[in-house]
Amino acid sequence: MWTAGTLIAGLLSVVILHFLIQLWSSKKYPPGPLRLPLLGSIWRLFIDFSQDSFMKLAKQYGKVYILWAGNLPVVVFSGFETVKEATVNYSEYFDERPQTPFFEALSEKKGIIFSNGHIWKQQRKFGIATMRKLGLGKKGIEHKIEEEALQLVQSFADVKGQPVDPLLLLTNSVTNVICALTFGQRFSIGDEHFLKLRNAIVVLLQGTGTIFQILYDLFPWIMKHLPGPHKEAIAARDFIVSFVMEEIQKRKAHQILHDPQDYIDYYLLQIERSKRDPSSTYSDRNLMQCVGDLFVAGTETTTSTLTWALLLMANYPDIQKKVQKEIEDVFGSSQSFSYQDRKDVPYTNAVICEIQRYRYILLIGLPRQCSKDVNVSGFFIPKGTTVIADFRSALLDPQKWETPQEFNPNHFLDKDGHFVENEAFLPFGAGARVCIGEQLARIELFIFFTRLLRSFTFQPPEGVKKISEEPQVRLVTPPHPYKICAIPRNSGP
Ligand code: HEM
Ligand SMILES: *[C@@H]1O[C@H](CO)[C@@H](O)[C@H](O)[C@H]1NC(C)=O
Ligand SMILES: *[C@@H]1O[C@H](CO)[C@@H](O)[C@H](O)[C@H]1NC(C)=O
Repeated sequence: MWTAGTLIAGLLSVVILHFLIQLWSSKKYPPGPLRLPLLGSIWRLFIDFSQDSFMKLAKQYGKVYILWAGNLPVVVFSGFETVKEATVNYSEYFDERPQTPFFEALSEKKGIIFSNGHIWKQQRKFGIATMRKLGLGKKGIEHKIEEEALQLVQSFADVKGQPVDPLLLLTNSVTNVICALTFGQRFSIGDEHFLKLRNAIVVLLQGTGTIFQILYDLFPWIMKHLPGPHKEAIAARDFIVSFVMEEIQKRKAHQILHDPQDYIDYYLLQIERSKRDPSSTYSDRNLMQCVGDLFVAGTETTTSTLTWALLLMANYPDIQKKVQKEIEDVFGSSQSFSYQDRKDVPYTNAVICEIQRYRYILLIGLPRQCSKDVNVSGFFIPKGTTVIADFRSALLDPQKWETPQEFNPNHFLDKDGHFVENEAFLPFGAGARVCIGEQLARIELFIFFTRLLRSFTFQPPEGVKKISEEPQVRLVTPPHPYKICAIPRNSGP
């Protein structure tokens, strides 16, 4: 007994000493919730977890605060001013992603989203240039989006005003846009390949940003062998890899190098061109990861925004009516108005931005890593620290928006109904790692939204007053599954 007692007392003092040392060493970091041994301070997130958790922490601890994931410090920047200071003023200090074991398993440090350094610079630059080449003019990707919009309108028309879950229809169109961009082929809604790909993307995103990811990063050698969302995400990644590899192999079989039509074409041409350049990172593996990145980053995000768009139109019929009237007044029965014409429909434009603001589809954005020592808002952030710029908090910042918690398109309109920008509107992020699909996403949102509202009025099913505006809380925050009625309108096709 005596020895057991000493042992316990000894252990206890070690734990307490460890705790005190931790408290002491935390002093040089920004404030945050109490840091416990082993767990760190992420226990705070389990107490009441919602999409507002991060903003609540900022209220309590300030615009720069720290969360400890075990021994890993994660600094969060909250509110527009701080987010901007970190991501824009100190852009080149926060241009990395943390390459934790989990992110490494999802990317092998290749591609655009999770890579760093020379690989990231080269792949990102190529990505931006290629999207520009593919997107320019009516013949490019915008034309493909208009074709998809026609199909989408037809799919809704086929339901004949009956209640329908819009998710699969929207996902199909958005996925087909990325298909057109990357390998120029589309799927029909029932296609087994499409459903598998879609499922893999959802599973990958659902396994990201969870406690399982944190556990994986802390104890990879154990978690590698345990089942859970983390393992499913990695398996889903393997599926996406083989799916994309198959497309690349097909393309290689009959490649026409002089007339590139899509991302894979341009990339294979680039591999060919830089064969003798020792600094080249253009390779099959990087191509595979880049294409996978475009699918992962470009489908759930845009789809979720569109599911919110239809939901909010059904819940705010007056706003929906105003959009429909504006489109009719300005474009009449013209079939061919394009993204470039959005300036002529400021109200519609404002409604789309307000949808992105009011129901932002990311919980916090993607984590970054500090690449050099820096001071932000008076806090010292050492090189290598994981940081999160809380873009949601900028979109809801009471200092930048009149009624941040309300769905109010006037946030983007002046007294005369002209469109006005707001510098806190940062749904695509900011700085060195800003979304490279912003332009594409904006075109998609505009074309899909206007085409749908011209053809249908969206309503809750009979007996439902308002569809729930509570999001699902994970890395991407779409609405809960819901049904909606697309009532065909008399005017328009
Ligand atoms: C409504 C739709 C979208 C939203 C809200 C969105 C938002 C974001 C955000 C917040 C980031 C992180 C930026 C940061 O770290 O500061 C990001 C990164 C990225 N997005 Fe998007 N995105 C959307 C659509 C797309 C599309 C359509 C594509 C491509 C086809 C795309 C490709 C990417 C890529 C490749 C990155 C990583 C960039 C890097 O790490 O350098 N996104 N996006
Ligand atoms: C960030 O940059 C802007 C414009 O260059 C400047 O007005 C602002 O004071 C800077 N903020 C900080 C905190 O350095
Ligand atoms: C951060 O601020 C402290 C105190 O003002 C200063 O000593 C330090 O050199 C600064 N570090 C950087 C990287 O700017």
